[in-house]
Amino acid sequence: MPENNRNTNLPAGDDTGLLDRALALCEAVVEETASSPAARERLFSELDEILDRAGEDLIESILAHGRFIAIRERVHDVRAEYEYQRETVVAENMIRAKSDAAAQEFRSRDWYDKAVDFESKALAPWNPKRLVFVGAGPFPTTPFNYMNHNPDSTVVCLEKSGDAAALSREVAKILGFGRLEIITADAHTYDAYDDFDCVMVGLVVGTSARDKSRIVDHFLGAVPENSVLTFRTAVGPGRVIYPSVDLAQLEGLDYRIMPDPPHKSFTMILVDRGAAKRGRT
Ligand SMILES: C[S@@+](CC[C@H](N)C(=O)[O-])C[C@H]1O[C@@H](n2cnc3c(N)ncnc32)[C@H](O)[C@@H]1O
Repeated sequence: MPENNRNTNLPAGDDTGLLDRALALCEAVVEETASSPAARERLFSELDEILDRAGEDLIESILAHGRFIAIRERVHDVRAEYEYQRETVVAENMIRAKSDAAAQEFRSRDWYDKAVDFESKALAPWNPKRLVFVGAGPFPTTPFNYMNHNPDSTVVCLEKSGDAAALSREVAKILGFGRLEIITADAHTYDAYDDFDCVMVGLVVGTSARDKSRIVDHFLGAVPENSVLTFRTAVGPGRVIYPSVDLAQLEGLDYRIMPDPPHKSFTMILVDRGAAKRGRT
């Protein structure tokens, strides 16, 4: 007998019940009344649990359902706000305690670690030495993990929120990443990427389809052709809570979508426009 879904108490195989529950959770999380960090943590923890266990049919049923389509972009927006809120809580707790304890308890720590391990392996053939991660947040887990995975590389953070940049600077000191560089700027307008051999665009930089499309166009124009450009994009169950890059925008370019991400809900698109010039195929 498959194990019941701990949070919803619905038998794991009961897709109809899980579909209804997932739709109800998506509708609840976009309600103004549920905007507190605690309410969002409770609702998203349960939704993440369902999505983590869901088969492809259930995911496609959620994505195709009129109740979800009506609120999809709002769910992606709220998810980005929630990620910002919970990272702010982790960062403030670390700074108050002058310890990394809160980082150890961070619910997505293992998930980010898997993601960076996966992405580092994908980038190894390019061996980037100076990377910038766009959309680093108050708790820049990805840049920290990258520096752990690639000690001879420098990772710079780009973040639009001054508050987040200030928090991340303090957190970096506590975690021993005192040399972390942080640029406070909006990715829509920032274009000084000549110094980097790899530019990585975070998952929630551009949450609506229109905004994601603007972001992709901006980076294709602003990043030097000889730098590797990567975009995190939602895949599989992640498409319920995160935005995806429209592949039509990359048509004609040398890009690859990294298959089978261990963290399941997003993967990395790697764009190498310099390949032809360097005789790399
Ligand atoms: C919450 S963090 C999540 C990333 C996570 N900390 C990591 O290391 O992978 C996402 C951050 O992206 C930032 N962001 C979103 N859109 C942006 C933009 N257009 N320019 C710069 N930063 C942006 C948000 O302010 C937020 O702090």
